[in-house]
Amino acid sequence: MDTTGSGLGRASAPAPAPTLAIERDASLGELNSFRLPATARLLVRVRSEADVRRLLADPECGRASKLVLGGGSNLVFSRDPRAVVLRVEVKGRRLVAERPDAWVVEVGAGETWHEIVAWTLDQGWPGLENLALIPGTAGAAPVQNIGAYGLELKDRFESLDAVDLVTGRTVTLDARACAFGYRDSVFKRAALDGGLAGKSLITRVRLRLPRPWQPVLGYLDLERKMAETGEAAPDARTIFDWVCAIRRAKLPDPARIGNAGSFFKNPVVSAEQCRDIIGRDPEIVHYPMPDGRMKLAAGWLIDACGWKGKSVGRAAVYERQALVLVNRGGATGAEVVTLARAIQESVYGRFGIRLEPEPVIV
Ligand code: EPU
Repeated sequence: MDTTGSGLGRASAPAPAPTLAIERDASLGELNSFRLPATARLLVRVRSEADVRRLLADPECGRASKLVLGGGSNLVFSRDPRAVVLRVEVKGRRLVAERPDAWVVEVGAGETWHEIVAWTLDQGWPGLENLALIPGTAGAAPVQNIGAYGLELKDRFESLDAVDLVTGRTVTLDARACAFGYRDSVFKRAALDGGLAGKSLITRVRLRLPRPWQPVLGYLDLERKMAETGEAAPDARTIFDWVCAIRRAKLPDPARIGNAGSFFKNPVVSAEQCRDIIGRDPEIVHYPMPDGRMKLAAGWLIDACGWKGKSVGRAAVYERQALVLVNRGGATGAEVVTLARAIQESVYGRFGIRLEPEPVIV
């Protein structure tokens, strides 16, 4: 692909370290956004594909099971991981193609997602604005197919490079191979289920930003902003600012309050089950799906069970959004898991719905 010419940037990845940086008994407290205490027996910082191959050749790490860590924003350490922890720090951002239908940018998996959203906007390549302020790295974005305010990563995805953690070979995967679902992809599924969890490490992600740009405004919170401001045709920068304001108002900033975003997925039920629940709870927030089923707002279900502000030890349900569990300072993973189970039981008891956690529980 062309990487020269006007407007096309260059990769800015630093030269890889000649030897592997292995840390022993490394604290993971600052490497997970929930700030849960955990210790890695071995922690390896991966800055390039060459680092992955060095790792695979290493007698101690090569054959051990592996846990890939990005920004640690969708992970709950309920105990010390037994696997070797690979912290992905591959950098670089550049425009790789300027086509009539899209700009295609390539970013290192270790880049901070929100900085990439802001950078593309600054460069005049809009399209990611609805996904502003989502914590974590660019490499983690496809793992759980991040989504917010009517847009999902898969809607802006071109392809990614990943290194096979057994053979060391780099493969390029398109959207089909990534098998994106709602907060799900092949990278989240275990090998037993045909997935790639722990089997491959994403190094670079390519994003497709369609031309001409079109706003995505169908989400209720954005419609409210349009009504409030009287702005009927907001540009990408305005939508970016709105999304940042909406998120800051209802979601805790992980830099100040440890959390992993939404703790549960919004459950999907049959139209019949939904009618049954509406019969008993007419207020329930629900959205029709293209296949006729209904998606229910898990935050509403948890809120209706009276969980806002409740806690187990130092783990608590966030006061402004019941779907988010927070660390009030000093929480353990066990406390988070106990709180999550109690919420699941109470929602099941009242609504007959089993909530499924969104983050990966280690
Ligand atoms: N609600 C309540 N009480 C609550 C929380 C929510 O009644 O405590 C109601 C709200 O009033 C609203 C509905 O539930 O009517 C849905 O709430 P909201 O619009 O805040 O969105 P959400 O379904 O809770 C999802 C994503 C978020 C994403 C937002 C915006 C999931 C699991 N979560 O949350 O993603 O930012 O929509 O698109 O799909 C994340 O994945 O970590 C995440 C934060």
